[in-house]
Amino acid sequence: MNQLLFFSNNKNKIIEIKKIFNKFNLELLSLNDLNISEEPEESGQTFEENAKIKSDYGFNKTGIPCFADDSGICIESLNWKPGVLSKRFLNNFRNNEACFESIIKNTKKNSKQNAFFKTSISLTVKDNHNLIFNGKIEGKISEKAKGRFGFGYDPVFIPKNYNKTLAELTTKEKNDISHRSIAVTKLINFLIN
Ligand code: IMP
Repeated sequence: MNQLLFFSNNKNKIIEIKKIFNKFNLELLSLNDLNISEEPEESGQTFEENAKIKSDYGFNKTGIPCFADDSGICIESLNWKPGVLSKRFLNNFRNNEACFESIIKNTKKNSKQNAFFKTSISLTVKDNHNLIFNGKIEGKISEKAKGRFGFGYDPVFIPKNYNKTLAELTTKEKNDISHRSIAVTKLINFLIN
């Protein structure tokens, strides 16, 4: 496989994933490289369904083997939501800090600290043929939002066996343990074997 397209416009995700691919000497294109800005509606009920919608769309549009990820955070004190609605949930607040405050308040009120991030990657290599690779990282909601690295919910998530939030870890440190890197590593192992 000479070329592979990563179907995402999220700059932070592209940086994280390109770093992992560089280690394996694989050439990766992103939507930016092909001047594609439109994305399909993420109407699935699960991370797997949404990832497939995006990787099928990318493959059908370009003819290049394409993978897409769909990810999010599941929070115990919110009955394991927002899940697939993570992006919309964050955007419903006036800013990220207001969202973090609300999550932390709920977590304290319900005395339920657990949370996890999940990523599903779908790889579409030909019409009607896709494969799924999953990754998960368990942890808890922090007592305060902390850190300036990463994106999204990183400032309020402390991985299991750590005492720092994901936003206090460098990209390399996050990539050593993250849900996305677990799923991407499974994808790469599939590609190189
Ligand atoms: P997407 O639909 O896969 O782009 O991700 C949905 C939302 O989940 C993102 O907008 C982020 O808010 C959140 N999210 C996904 N992955 C991460 C992560 O690695 N760290 C923090 N937030 C994330």
